[in-house]
Amino acid sequence: MTQGPLTTEAGAPVADNQNSETAGVGGPVLVQDQLLLEKLAHFNRERIPERVVHARGAGAYGTFTVTADVTPYTRAAFLSEAGKETEVFLRFSTVAGNLGAADAVRDPRGFALKFYTEEGNYDLVGNNTPVFFIRDAIKFPDFIHTQKRDPYTGSTEADNVWDFWGLSPESTHQVTWLFGDRGIPASYRHMDGFGSHTYQWNNEAGEVFWVKYHFKTDQGIKNLTQAEADRIAGADPDSHQRDLREAIERGEFPSWTVGVQIMPAADAATYRFNPFDLTKVWPHADYPVVEIGKLELNRNPQNIFAEVEQSVFSPAHFVPGIGPSPDKMLQGRLFAYGDAHRYRVGINADHLPVNRPHATEARTNSRDGFLYDGRHGGAKNYEPNSFGGPRQTGRALWQPVSVAGATGDHPTPVHAEDDDFVQAGNLYRLMAEDEKERLVANLAGFIAKVSKDEIAERAIGNFGRADADFGKRLEAAVRELRG
Ligand code: HEM
Repeated sequence: MTQGPLTTEAGAPVADNQNSETAGVGGPVLVQDQLLLEKLAHFNRERIPERVVHARGAGAYGTFTVTADVTPYTRAAFLSEAGKETEVFLRFSTVAGNLGAADAVRDPRGFALKFYTEEGNYDLVGNNTPVFFIRDAIKFPDFIHTQKRDPYTGSTEADNVWDFWGLSPESTHQVTWLFGDRGIPASYRHMDGFGSHTYQWNNEAGEVFWVKYHFKTDQGIKNLTQAEADRIAGADPDSHQRDLREAIERGEFPSWTVGVQIMPAADAATYRFNPFDLTKVWPHADYPVVEIGKLELNRNPQNIFAEVEQSVFSPAHFVPGIGPSPDKMLQGRLFAYGDAHRYRVGINADHLPVNRPHATEARTNSRDGFLYDGRHGGAKNYEPNSFGGPRQTGRALWQPVSVAGATGDHPTPVHAEDDDFVQAGNLYRLMAEDEKERLVANLAGFIAKVSKDEIAERAIGNFGRADADFGKRLEAAVRELRG
């Protein structure tokens, strides 16, 4: 802010910011005290709706640098040559907690990345987990209701959480991951990120590839045990947020090595797992992770409200050469985020400094509405026009996908090795003995809190179907705790 006297919102100098104006000494306050009225009124409106999920987060700016030639797979301009740099903004988050909740909790972490490319902003809105709890967007509101506060008690309830997971066996893989060692990262810097969904890349020749993004932390993976997390959550609720800001202030810029798994389009139909099922990974032995870049965070936001609270990320923000896959979760997300932004930040959310393109401009005819800043001046607001206005390109960002059959409420197609438990079992069997013990203890501690045996039994049954030893140990641990 520039020097000079304190002013009202309209810029008039303020004479007294300590005493409101009264009718005589000790008398009632006057309506003509404009400063008092505007201060009280503005204060009442200083909060916007928090994100319905991922409310609690921290962000930073940085740079993405390409390190490999990926032009055989995508024509995205920001990926066009090794050495090319693109500005980014990354917002990390927890999922279930309200704004102000503690950071050190067992919960997936959001990993929402905005690339400010010369062809518009590309948002990759991922998590620190390669999979998710469900595979169809129609279940998302029900799922999140079980993770958030119960309508009667106002608290998170073990009954709701385990009832939903037990009745949604496709969650078994993600829940096994979440209650393992990686379920509580030590900080946002010490965890990996994933695009999670499968996305389409297409090259100059129009060939299609299906890809999954991986961000491997260069700081090394560091996690908290449940006991450590419980202590930190109480002592320093802002632990992740503080760690990120202070590391960047010290000049210790966190970085991630960026890779992709690339599947030629022709493989998708016959791959052993449905490649568009978000509850499944592609084992690296099938599709290795190929390194394509480096991500570094090196600049803190100056104003948390303007740049973090008002930041918006949408899985529907693609650039030429990148597009969606038919993953039913992703398809639902293509709608949900823009809709949330219009509600939470307003119709001009994409015009705010943190959200607007930085390496190009948005030449859109969608203008006006609340808080439009008039940036288009007197330019015509329709297309086509005869006044030199911007024109459509005639080239789609992504390639079409073939479909067959009639419309209907079709479940996600099942491939040769797909079931809800196979990858959860594989994950369990990969764990060292001490990690298995912590996993079972973490799960048992929570399952033991449910009020109905039926809910506990169904939940335990799912882990038993993933791996018999897993189920047996969990059953014993829960029995011991429930007595
Ligand atoms: C169909 C399933 C899903 C729906 C309907 C959904 C919906 C939402 C909504 C409405 C928000 C708040 C957006 C805002 O207010 O700006 C949000 C935030 C977020 N979601 Fe999802 N979500 C889904 C699944 C996922 C999945 C699978 C991931 C990760 C792979 C994910 C990652 C995130 C992240 C990282 C944020 C926070 C973005 C930020 O930092 O602003 N979500 N989600």
